[in-house]
Amino acid sequence: MGTRLIWLFLMWCIAICAIAEDGHDAWLRYARLHEATAKQFQSLPKLVVTLGDSPPIGSAQTELKRGLARMLGREIRASKQTPTQDFILLGVRDQIEEMFANLHVPELAPDGFWLDWTEVGGHKALVIAGGSDRGPLYGTFALLGKIARGENLETLDEVQNPAAPLRWINQWDNLDGTIERGYAGPSIFFENGSVRADLTRAREYARLLASVGLNGCVVNNVNADPRILDDAFIPQLARIADAFRPYGVKLGVSVNLSMPKTVGGLDTFDPLDPRVQAWWAHKFDALYRAIPDFGGVVVKADSEGQLGPSAYGRTPVDAANVIARALRPHHGVVFYRAFVYNHHLDWKDPKADRARAAYDIFHPLDGRFDDNVIVQIKNGPIDFQVREPASPLFGGVKQTSKAIELQITQEYLGQQRHTVYLAPMWKQTLDFDMHVDGHDTPVKSLLRGVVGVANVGMDANWLANHLAMANLYSFGRLAWDSNLSAEAIVDEWMRLTFGNDPEVVQKVREIQMESWPAYEHYTGPLGLQTLTNITGPHYGPAPESQERNGWGQWIRAEHDGVGMDRSVSTGTGFVGQYSAEAQKQFETAAATPDELLLFFHHVPYTYKLHGGKTVIQAIYDFHYEGAAQANEFVNTWETLERKIDPDRYQAVLAQLSYQADHAIVWRDAINDWCLRTSGISDAQDRVGHHPDRIEAESMHLEGYTAVELTSWEGASGGKAVACPKERTSCAVETSINTDGTYDIAVQYFDLNGGVARFELFVNDQRVATWKADRQLPGKDLSADSSVREHINGISMNRGDHLRIVGTPNGGDPAAIDYIEIQPHAN
Ligand code: GCU
Repeated sequence: MGTRLIWLFLMWCIAICAIAEDGHDAWLRYARLHEATAKQFQSLPKLVVTLGDSPPIGSAQTELKRGLARMLGREIRASKQTPTQDFILLGVRDQIEEMFANLHVPELAPDGFWLDWTEVGGHKALVIAGGSDRGPLYGTFALLGKIARGENLETLDEVQNPAAPLRWINQWDNLDGTIERGYAGPSIFFENGSVRADLTRAREYARLLASVGLNGCVVNNVNADPRILDDAFIPQLARIADAFRPYGVKLGVSVNLSMPKTVGGLDTFDPLDPRVQAWWAHKFDALYRAIPDFGGVVVKADSEGQLGPSAYGRTPVDAANVIARALRPHHGVVFYRAFVYNHHLDWKDPKADRARAAYDIFHPLDGRFDDNVIVQIKNGPIDFQVREPASPLFGGVKQTSKAIELQITQEYLGQQRHTVYLAPMWKQTLDFDMHVDGHDTPVKSLLRGVVGVANVGMDANWLANHLAMANLYSFGRLAWDSNLSAEAIVDEWMRLTFGNDPEVVQKVREIQMESWPAYEHYTGPLGLQTLTNITGPHYGPAPESQERNGWGQWIRAEHDGVGMDRSVSTGTGFVGQYSAEAQKQFETAAATPDELLLFFHHVPYTYKLHGGKTVIQAIYDFHYEGAAQANEFVNTWETLERKIDPDRYQAVLAQLSYQADHAIVWRDAINDWCLRTSGISDAQDRVGHHPDRIEAESMHLEGYTAVELTSWEGASGGKAVACPKERTSCAVETSINTDGTYDIAVQYFDLNGGVARFELFVNDQRVATWKADRQLPGKDLSADSSVREHINGISMNRGDHLRIVGTPNGGDPAAIDYIEIQPHAN
């Protein structure tokens, strides 16, 4: 290598290798800016004057120093004195006006902030003023974000006030350290029944949350362990509150309505019993003695087995108000979840409809909740599906405070093994016009709270998927400003996360913006919802699990048609829960947008969509298009190899490649199932025909036995081969009938019970070996555990033998579904 090349390599390494990252800093990397960009910030003052000494103001000052040091290499001095040079001024509005009589700060909401250049005593001052002590912290993060993105600060004059006062995170963490629907490692708060000794991650999390303006966090599962408010536990909770306080994040907990009885020593938890009322009051008095700034509680009651007021013939109003009254003296709030439904519905009843439940229960109670009760409503009427209409309850409780509950953790959306950028989906709900009383009333205009179920874990990058962090970021941004576009937010996040290179920004934006439609297309298009295993891990395809049970996630896929009829005229009447204006969009199949057609209507498979395609052909096509799109994400990402640090590049590549492969599993499972249910072939003849595939069960088997999957569509042809436990190894073999260079894909199953091994031979030569050591959901052979190994560029001649040897291990039987052989793609 010539000297020049070595030099160039070194420069490249300094730029790329030196910043190898694990995602832990998320969007707060404060990466050093290129000289040219840094230059424009040269005139920033080198002194910060901080008024007040509350913890969030202290954090704002620390953050400012840290951000400027890292991005610009600039050390700034802190002072509380009247400045004698240009300065940055950090403080709460009232204090600023008191100290600088001539400085007029605009009106600000409590958490709002003002960023402005002004002149004080002959010196230039960059003012970061807040309505409360959280405001300057939010303003500081906003300022640092602008610098990181290289934005011009010269004309800065900006007032920002949050869209909703309550911007909370819910974590579904259990006290034993596991997380319900968490996909990124154990809890950052709890382990083995106690609060963690080391709460560093909890503190860092609060910093991340504050950086996007979030101000509350409920730390335990909505399926609440009643021990959460035990006297002995309260001091432990106080430690979490201490970790949150510097960032202005209020601690909240989930409570269980039955606590007065289950752990409180009473023989009842009837909310109207004075002893129960006294119990809650006493409990919260004690809690507030330990945590004076405690935020409030969330309640899941009469839902999925959680006890609730119905046990005593009481209503959610009775339940919410008893807790609200105990919290009121301390200014705490109750988020009472509207996720109340009967999960033993009669599927044979054509009028039964889970989607109706929240409105049916809460609408009649409107106006009766105390004013520190907020009814927390999931975005859609079912349960975080890939697409749902906005819940009609947002317009159905006019005199009640409402919060929207969005899910950041991707329970039904690929569990962070798939990249799905959720802001476009959330925007659809936030922007949906409920037409309350005939006025324009988008959901976002009706909210006092915005709540996101995040479920971050101990994994270095919080959500175990670098690209999924855009969801946590955009949740905070939308809670702050629901008018921002999904595109603008992802653009901000990109620049903070991967830098300002225009090609990187554009391509990752492209992947993110296309990821929800792609996922919807290869899972459940046309309003079918995520056709996943709803009685299992909610991950891979298993459409049959939607039907014929009490859970009410039915899609009514029958031989003659598909979809739930929710119309008023012939269906369950759910459409009638919307305003008259909104009803017009959904009451008839003709008016309903294609993407929600099957959520609202039962139609024949041959029903023509607005674009002219039949429903069944659209289902087939969408699945092929979605899977192809997922594959395209990999290609797009690969073009960025030299522009992203190697660690994150490789991690994202591995994630997107797995996703592309799993999208094929989805595509085939749903299409095969729809083909069998409808009996109508794919006009393009793809579904059920895979000429490049050789099914393992049709190969020559040594020791392997053919097995049928419980959900047959989880394996190609409904079958796989598994190696019995008592054998040390098994093999499948086939012969090749043309000469050429091939790409071979082996579709196999990776179960968690052990680490099976596979070897691929051409004749006697071993050409590949791999281990089945992924952590995937599900315990059985199913679409959840179906994965692909690619072995590319293998030369073979007619008559060669292709052989796979599988070595089972523990509970993993080294099962194989099929191999696919295609001409080598260069
Ligand atoms: C879903 C989820 C549960 C969760 C529930 C809820 O049903 O699968 O794990 O407890 O929602 O939101 O309460």
